[in-house]
Amino acid sequence: MERTSAVSIQNVRKTYRRGWRGRRTRALDGVCFELQEGEIGAFIGPNGSGKSTTMRILLGLLEADSGTAAIFGCSGTDPQVRRRVGFLPEAPVFYGFVSGREFVEYAARLCGASGGSVARRAGAILERVGLADASDRPIRDYSKGMVQRLGLAQAMVHNPDLLVLDEPMAGVDPIGVTGIVRLCETLRERGTTILLASHALSWVASLCDRVAIFDRGQILWNGCMDDLPESGDRWSLDVDGYAPGKRVPVAAALESCGVRLASVGRSGAVLERRFVERIETARGERGWAE
Ligand SMILES: Nc1ncnc2c1ncn2[C@@H]1O[C@H](COP(=O)(O)OP(=O)(O)O)[C@@H](O)[C@H]1O
Ligand SMILES: [Mg+2]
Repeated sequence: MERTSAVSIQNVRKTYRRGWRGRRTRALDGVCFELQEGEIGAFIGPNGSGKSTTMRILLGLLEADSGTAAIFGCSGTDPQVRRRVGFLPEAPVFYGFVSGREFVEYAARLCGASGGSVARRAGAILERVGLADASDRPIRDYSKGMVQRLGLAQAMVHNPDLLVLDEPMAGVDPIGVTGIVRLCETLRERGTTILLASHALSWVASLCDRVAIFDRGQILWNGCMDDLPESGDRWSLDVDGYAPGKRVPVAAALESCGVRLASVGRSGAVLERRFVERIETARGERGWAE
């Protein structure tokens, strides 16, 4: 099936001017990035490397000095396109005195919902991000992770075709991170395109189809996970029942099929997985993004 372009960024440059002397900061210097419909793409890179600026230009919230950025072939400022996009900004700030439910209902109305569908949509989305129990509390009482979940809820309340998430996992506990990952997987199955910026590299590697590595306003590398230079010849196997005493027979078994055992160690994901399993078992539930 031929896929169409969801995000197309061509040679975008941006310099910020600040203060009475107009001090200049070059934020982007020729950024190009493509994402097809139904894919999950990630921007990774150090702080200040230009990820958020690129997202804001794509969404039409900021003007580029030169270059073009399009969503589904149109400008991000086009109202028709905006209806199809959800955005979670970096470090979202919401009015503290309203409840989570009131805020999401407000977001649903802004996105065109009316009548009974407002409460229905808000209720369903709050359930989905695990905020149902806290939905009637004022937002000022929410933890950082809960505010982040609320941000996700407002970004998704209108079932957007493209979801842009700027550091959705920042400040979220491992249960919440697992929830976000599952949520993204479910949305991808339904055909939603997702563009996210994240420092959670192991999750980015397992979740995303396409990754761009930013540094100082440029993209150093951009491609599919399978195209990463190292991943072509170095793989990791996730095995059960291994013990240090089995190294020799395991190495021999691998060698018999032409595979060299390069290193053995506990998977970095093990602690994370055990943590999530233990907490979910204790709570008798599985995640918040089903
Ligand atoms: N509003 C702004 N005014 C001036 N400089 C900014 C502004 N926003 C970002 N910058 C600068 O632009 C560069 C890229 O920032 P940003 O896009 O936020 O990076 P990232 O999201 O990768 O952390 C940084 O040098 C940052 O200091
Ligand atoms: Mg940023």
